[in-house]
Amino acid sequence: MKILSLFSGCGGLDQGFLKAGFNIVWANDFDKYAVETYKANFGNNIVLQDINKIDFDELPDFDMLIGGFPCQPFSMMGEEKGFEDTRGTLFFKIAEIIKYKIEKNEKPKVIVLENVRSLKTHDNGKTFKTIKRILEKDLRYKVYSDILNSADYGTPQTRNRTYIVCFDNKNIEFEFPKKQKLNLTLQDLLEKNVDNKYFLSEKIIPTILSNGTGGYNAKSEIDLKIARPLCATMAKMHRACQDNYVTQENRIRRLTPRECARLQGFSDDFVIPVSDTQAYKQFGNAVTVNVSYAVANQIKDSLNKLGEWNND
Ligand SMILES: C[S@@+](CC[C@H](N)C(=O)[O-])C[C@H]1O[C@@H](n2cnc3c(N)ncnc32)[C@H](O)[C@@H]1O
Repeated sequence: MKILSLFSGCGGLDQGFLKAGFNIVWANDFDKYAVETYKANFGNNIVLQDINKIDFDELPDFDMLIGGFPCQPFSMMGEEKGFEDTRGTLFFKIAEIIKYKIEKNEKPKVIVLENVRSLKTHDNGKTFKTIKRILEKDLRYKVYSDILNSADYGTPQTRNRTYIVCFDNKNIEFEFPKKQKLNLTLQDLLEKNVDNKYFLSEKIIPTILSNGTGGYNAKSEIDLKIARPLCATMAKMHRACQDNYVTQENRIRRLTPRECARLQGFSDDFVIPVSDTQAYKQFGNAVTVNVSYAVANQIKDSLNKLGEWNND
């Protein structure tokens, strides 16, 4: 199955689909460092460009579209205007590409979208309702959605994300992957002999260990067995109520980029060609490979049952 991948980042979502036997024919991101990582691991089929500047005529043939699109607030204007509700947002760009393909009689068979958990509740649920309505009513897909936690798919990280899977064939039955027992802890994924730069200075420790205040009144805890969600701004070192810290050799340290890669399901042969700051951002942004792989396999099963799977 030929996949068009949008907002590909360093390729977490893509990696899962590749592992399951899908074929990524074209990918895109406008972050040059993310594209550098993608190229180092998956090859040159990624285009470094703002999606808003892509000419749809240049897109290759594809059967499926996948993308973890950045979440932007939609202006609802009080009225439900369908397709136009999302104009100017990156979801609109996805919808526009699908619409363009439908008009050319090349409707993609499957669409897979990923976003933060709060997409479902954003703006009192209106944002999600708009997305669903466009996928179902305007683009005529059968839509499934669920919130999946990475910790339920074999990796010790609490990471709840909204997954949306859409099929053109209304006879297809789809189930999100069953939860798996977690056999690993964060401690199992730690590197040995870690560079001194990852250890906290005595000076910064009190700040890092202090509890959250004001709007973020959370308890600081380190050495968690299941990591807190990795986030794109990890390079900044948040307090321990928001970020992950571990004790090693009686000293406290942050996670290394490789440990973040492991928590996101990337194997150790995944090349990290960029600076720590960029690597933290890319792994904090990524879809967990384990979850992507599990979802991809379920999609493959559903397609197979109706003879819609192809090995192209
Ligand atoms: C949440 S991340 C996606 C992560 C990816 N799905 C993965 O699993 O690794 C969103 C990505 O969208 C990219 N992006 C945001 N706006 C974009 C635009 N206008 N054109 C192209 N890429 C864009 C960002 O650079 C970022 O890498």
